[in-house]
Amino acid sequence: MTSNALMNTYGTRAATLEKGEGAWLWDANGNKYLDALSGIAVCGLGHSHPAVAKAVSEQAATLTHCSNFFSIPNQEQLAEKLCNASGMENVFFGNSGAEANEAAIKIARLHGHKKGIKLPTVLVMDNAFHGRTLATLTASGSRKVQAGFEPLIRGFVRSPFDNIEALETIADNNAEICAVLVEPIQGEGGVRVASDNYLQQLRALCDAKGWLLMLDEVQTGNGRTGKYFCYQHSGILPDVVTTSKGLGNGVPIGACLAQGEAAQLMQPGNHGSTFGGNPLACAAALATITSIENGGLMQRASHIGDRIMDGLRAELEGVEQVVAIRGKGCMIGVELNRPCKSLFAAAMAKGLIINVTADSVVRLLPPLIMSDSEADQVVAILAPLIKHFAAD
Ligand SMILES: Cc1ncc(COP(=O)(O)O)c(C=O)c1O
Repeated sequence: MTSNALMNTYGTRAATLEKGEGAWLWDANGNKYLDALSGIAVCGLGHSHPAVAKAVSEQAATLTHCSNFFSIPNQEQLAEKLCNASGMENVFFGNSGAEANEAAIKIARLHGHKKGIKLPTVLVMDNAFHGRTLATLTASGSRKVQAGFEPLIRGFVRSPFDNIEALETIADNNAEICAVLVEPIQGEGGVRVASDNYLQQLRALCDAKGWLLMLDEVQTGNGRTGKYFCYQHSGILPDVVTTSKGLGNGVPIGACLAQGEAAQLMQPGNHGSTFGGNPLACAAALATITSIENGGLMQRASHIGDRIMDGLRAELEGVEQVVAIRGKGCMIGVELNRPCKSLFAAAMAKGLIINVTADSVVRLLPPLIMSDSEADQVVAILAPLIKHFAAD
């Protein structure tokens, strides 16, 4: 039952979840579920992680919030930790992925104006997802996300994803572009992994054109793909990187990180947030990042992801309705040749939580702490469901 007192943005909810521990969740009826979604790439450390629970409860009992009028020692510590993990120079903290991207888009516009561009324009991709605020839904490449919210805002042009030639053509015909905003792996868009050298080519194009390279790592960040940030697989450094989701393991926090000229553009009064980077959220994020680094969880993410993908490939070999099995680390997509939303309920009924995105892609975002035997259980439950669906 979903209360009428809630605005109907999510439709009917699947179950009432009451408790979580590690990779497991329990509903109000006592049913147990293996969680291969992590609250949409949020709880990378699993549920009720002791280090995060301890840090949050101690901080809540000391100082929850004080505003950014005052210096916040654990906010500074977290910023330094994130800079060390990323190669960036400084950080702005907000509360969500969309807010982190808003900060990035504002940095891009400051950069454009500094270059004398009258209508600074950000290049974004087909099938992208960057959030639900007006700027970020405009940047998103999905009519579903935008429909009904026109007028969209100015200052964006769109290109096909993972196609550097198309970008070069657009670049030749638009002198107002000042930045590119792109997900290293498109998550909501269907777990689309770009070619190996895509980010290097983008870096070279941005350097040649004087554009900022801005990576949306809201979903791919915080160890999920096997490195702290996904761009670290490519050996490049972006100018701006945004993250959120897995940063606080469930406590809302978002971050926009920058280096070089991009790190110097924001000045006092340009941007802000009441809650962004408050002591409570920073305590959660510090405990999360420390646990990811000290627990070897980036390596674990690669191992678990490979184990699940290998298992699914072995089980689903020859199933012609399976178009592709792809991903990196704990971000996995199984694309089918037709819409497969019904697999979500079928998996719930078997005690497994998954997601279906872009209509026909089963998306798995398991916690990085998942054990080998839990990963095998994901495959053992999911593969027969997909085979059964394919045979229908
Ligand atoms: C790549 C990406 N960017 C931005 C967002 C928006 O994040 P939030 O829902 O925290 O605003 C999401 C959420 O799914 C995302 O996957």
